[in-house]
Amino acid sequence: MSSLRIGVMGAGIIGREHIALVGASPDTRLTAIADVTESGRQLAEELGVTCYADYREMLDDAALDAVIVALPNALHRDAGLACIERGLPTLMEKPIADTLAAGLELAEASEAAGVPMLIGHHRRHSPDMVEARRTIRDGELGKLVAVNGMWLCRKHDAYFDQVWRRQVGGGPILINLIHEIDILRFLCGEIESVQAVTGAAARGFEVEDSFAVVIKFANGAIGSFTGSDAVPSPWMWDVASGQSPNFPHHPGSCYTIGGSRASLSVPGMDVWAHEEGGDWRQPLVRRRLQPPRTHCYPEQLAHFVAVIRGEAAPVIDAREGVMTLAATLAVSRAAAEGVRVQVSDMLTR
Ligand SMILES: NC(=O)c1ccc[n+]([C@@H]2O[C@H](COP(=O)([O-])OP(=O)(O)OC[C@H]3O[C@@H](n4cnc5c(N)ncnc54)[C@H](O)[C@@H]3O)[C@@H](O)[C@H]2O)c1
Repeated sequence: MSSLRIGVMGAGIIGREHIALVGASPDTRLTAIADVTESGRQLAEELGVTCYADYREMLDDAALDAVIVALPNALHRDAGLACIERGLPTLMEKPIADTLAAGLELAEASEAAGVPMLIGHHRRHSPDMVEARRTIRDGELGKLVAVNGMWLCRKHDAYFDQVWRRQVGGGPILINLIHEIDILRFLCGEIESVQAVTGAAARGFEVEDSFAVVIKFANGAIGSFTGSDAVPSPWMWDVASGQSPNFPHHPGSCYTIGGSRASLSVPGMDVWAHEEGGDWRQPLVRRRLQPPRTHCYPEQLAHFVAVIRGEAAPVIDAREGVMTLAATLAVSRAAAEGVRVQVSDMLTR
């Protein structure tokens, strides 16, 4: 089967990862780059492909089978619509868009045109997450009861040199928690409502540096999630899983998923249950799950190839991307207003 011709919009931090992966896969071929910077142009020259300053020109000029959009969030809507109009399957980096209205436009356009859009929530392709979801779905934990998660890390001080990262909207809820919300939805089901508090005392910026979220899932399970960008720790998925190229690997767990029969730690992948299905009076038995040792970014690209070829539906399509954004924005609103927010209200207000 011939390799698929891929155009990449945005040769920044994550765009360059995509460009390297597209180049490394036998199923894909980097055909063009769209970027406005000199460094983007230089990269294209090194790789022997054309660089377009105008991404629309790339879409009209280069012969493409599909596109990866790795542009700043505010450009996702226009770039995504331009791809859909031309019938090009798209891998849209997360979040689907910078607003819910823009995300919904993309979802509606993708569905109306029958052009698939895969949202770049890469963790859904990670083997630990796939195995955890299978374990939960197969009922090995019983009925989901209580879930807990952590994302505790210390970002470097220079990260905050950019003013927008110190202002409301530039903090870890909208940038980082969105991954956690998406993976909690993937593993545990739809989020019904959230309550949240934030802290800003560790860094002293206008924006939050820490947050605690209380979650009610539609299936009746409850959850809590704590996060901070001011705490050195191994309790974050990127470090515990070893799946992220830019983080040290310290094997451990950052999620505990409790069911009526057993509980599961992720990505440690230990299933704990009392002997003979008993209760707290019986010894606990630990069984370690053994997911395959694949990596999420190449797996995401392999899945995108299947989507482009019409062999699979996106594991997270535009509509799902909107739901993840809605639940994340619900956390922001819950923290700002000090109220419990129903996620469904985010889509109707
Ligand atoms: N899934 C992940 O792991 C992950 C990680 C980081 C970022 N992201 C997402 O990827 C997107 C990009 O983030 P980033 O950190 O790579 O940003 P970045 O700023 O490093 O890169 C953005 C690139 O887009 C280019 N660009 C800007 N305007 C353009 C235009 N009009 N036409 C063409 N090119 C233009 C810039 O020159 C830059 O090279 C964001 O949506 C972000 O949320 C996802």
